Amino acid sequence: MALAIATLAAWLPLASAQSFTETAEQHQARLAAWREARFGLFIHWGIYAIPGRGEWVQWNEQIPVEEYAKLADQFKPANFDANAWVAAAKAAGMKYMVLTTRHHDGFALFDDPGSDFTSVKTAAHRDFVADYVKAARAGGMLVGLYYSPLDWRFPGFFFPDLYLKNAEAMRDQYHRQMRELLTNYGKVDILFFDGGENNWLQFGGRWVSGARWEKRPAGQSYQGHFSWQTDKVYAMLREFQPGVVINGRADMPEDFHSREGDRALGDFDAEHPWELCTTLAAGAWGWKEGAAIKTLRDSVQLLVKTVGRDGNFILNVGPRPDGQIDPPQVQRLKEIGDWLAKNGASVYGTRGGPFLPGVYGVSTYRGQKIFVHVLDWKSASKLLLPTIPAKVVRASLLAGGEAMVSQTERGIEIAVPASNQNDTDTIVVLELDQPASRIKPVAPVAN
Ligand code: GLC
Repeated sequence: MALAIATLAAWLPLASAQSFTETAEQHQARLAAWREARFGLFIHWGIYAIPGRGEWVQWNEQIPVEEYAKLADQFKPANFDANAWVAAAKAAGMKYMVLTTRHHDGFALFDDPGSDFTSVKTAAHRDFVADYVKAARAGGMLVGLYYSPLDWRFPGFFFPDLYLKNAEAMRDQYHRQMRELLTNYGKVDILFFDGGENNWLQFGGRWVSGARWEKRPAGQSYQGHFSWQTDKVYAMLREFQPGVVINGRADMPEDFHSREGDRALGDFDAEHPWELCTTLAAGAWGWKEGAAIKTLRDSVQLLVKTVGRDGNFILNVGPRPDGQIDPPQVQRLKEIGDWLAKNGASVYGTRGGPFLPGVYGVSTYRGQKIFVHVLDWKSASKLLLPTIPAKVVRASLLAGGEAMVSQTERGIEIAVPASNQNDTDTIVVLELDQPASRIKPVAPVAN
């Protein structure tokens, strides 16, 4: 009898997360379009754009929920044009987009029959997610949605056990809004979760006796009675959007890992798909008046360094309260796109390697071609790369011009005259006698 119950219990949860199975090949195929796209636009936009001090303004300045909510009455973005966003992404050479459908402040840019705190039921009277999805799809972009399960308006997020019912209401909202997003907007290619992990509950802390709050030690997750019931969310998203790729910030099996911020660039990893997300403007993801923006060189080099580590790169803009992306940012995006128009062959559809990143720069490959991205010549005109078990049959510079390449038992020696070196990225194309994918990643030699 005990055995029978155990067997039954083992069967029941199968209706959820575990019921989605795929082979390694199916998994690769599901990720292929996202991976080949390589470069995307992240958009953080909501009522926090009005104060213009970033998307964390409510928390950072401890603005009372009711007072913050009044921003929704002023949110009537006169210059919102989803097609302009898509045009900016296209001009940047981006192939996918991700929009914050709802950030931690709880304000939804889409219709939710169960909540009044949405752009549809407040001053704008508009479903911005619908406009965005339509424009992105029409523009040939992969469509991504960002969603934050946590919501600062719910005391239950901070004290899930003390306010258990309230935390459960937050969970109901999460499941309900997910259903809306998964069923009302056609095909969704990417879901970017943020703040949906067990670890984030109680804001990553715990309350200890004496009413003292302390940061939960690393590796220790929240142990209370509340559960996000993410297995239900996962079952739902696989049911309605079987092809969607998701990141790992909501305790569901991740398709790709999020690395956040310039400093999180990290190591080469061709095993687990990952994406570096970072901002074009310094200091915040949402609109911040007067924030400095990355130079063209830094933007391009970060893109290249990411792709050379076998990651995707998603660059964020925070449109102004009127809906427009600030013109200097649009301009920078266009400059990045101009660079990609000439050099995109070394980025799109490539994989990182086989030469691992080093002081010289990085490498990417596609088919029988290796693209060596030399980001730093160290004032020399020569670069020595390690030996590879393949023959270089042709060598050239992607931008045109001379590259002398000789393959000896020491390795591959590349010489490019200073006049052909490019301060941002000198891309040397090595054509092999076989597919570059056959070559195992190889560490650079000291030059
Ligand atoms: C961080 C920020 C958040 C932003 C996210 C994007 O978690 O706190 O505001 O949305 O990064 O990855």
